[in-house]
Amino acid sequence: MATRTPIVGGNWKMNTTRASAVSLAETVATSCREHTATCDVVIFPPFPYLSAVGEALGDSGVQLGAQDVYHESDGAFTGEVSTAMLRDIGVNAVILGHSERRHVIGEDDALIHRKLLATLEADLLVIFCVGETLEQREAGQTETIVLGQLESGLTDVPASRLVQMVIAYEPVWAIGTGRTASPEDAQAVHACIRTAVASRYDDVTADSLRIQYGGSVKADNASALFAQPDIDGGLIGGASLDGGAFASIVREASRISHGASA
Ligand code: 13P
Repeated sequence: MATRTPIVGGNWKMNTTRASAVSLAETVATSCREHTATCDVVIFPPFPYLSAVGEALGDSGVQLGAQDVYHESDGAFTGEVSTAMLRDIGVNAVILGHSERRHVIGEDDALIHRKLLATLEADLLVIFCVGETLEQREAGQTETIVLGQLESGLTDVPASRLVQMVIAYEPVWAIGTGRTASPEDAQAVHACIRTAVASRYDDVTADSLRIQYGGSVKADNASALFAQPDIDGGLIGGASLDGGAFASIVREASRISHGASA
């Protein structure tokens, strides 16, 4: 079977202004264009700037993603945004289950699951985040927590839909802290996720599934992380706000060649 196409996401979170978002998108478009044939590159600006960023990305091959979505199609849901609205403005990927939405905003597994099914149904790519807190890691619960979140997310998702999903393993204690999981620790969790997907579905589905690492990925630690056999790219927060650093990470990811035939 084919190798997995690496994927790097730039999650801008609640940062940038309209002007800085457009300028950053232009930098990403210019510096990442040459890598988009070998690596999927997606940036996730704040909602108000999606259209402007989409225009700035032009025909660069860098894709446009949203940081969240609501599962209902329309109606009285003040403040929410539907999958159809996102598709309408050229979005093709959505982050769901991010630790900030789980732990800061308070989304639970049930809500995340409803959003996930609606996003798959809309033929958008889902970046589904899982990850343990420091307390959970220190209590030896990493696998239980991560596999529990995974199982909840994958409920009622048929194998045929997994091509539309990327799992992002983001240990909560590594997000925005400068404290990265060691490549070996991250690999262990990625391998555990792939094994769980193989037993839930089958080996071919699991071997094709892309699993990204997120949590303080920088230009200088990306290559060691991406060298691990089950790490298929990264979901980048802080470093994605620096066009040069983000492009360096994308360049590292574009060299990845992981998969059953690798
Ligand atoms: P940092 O790269 O800033 O740690 O953020 C990671 C993240 O949350 C990406 O979604």
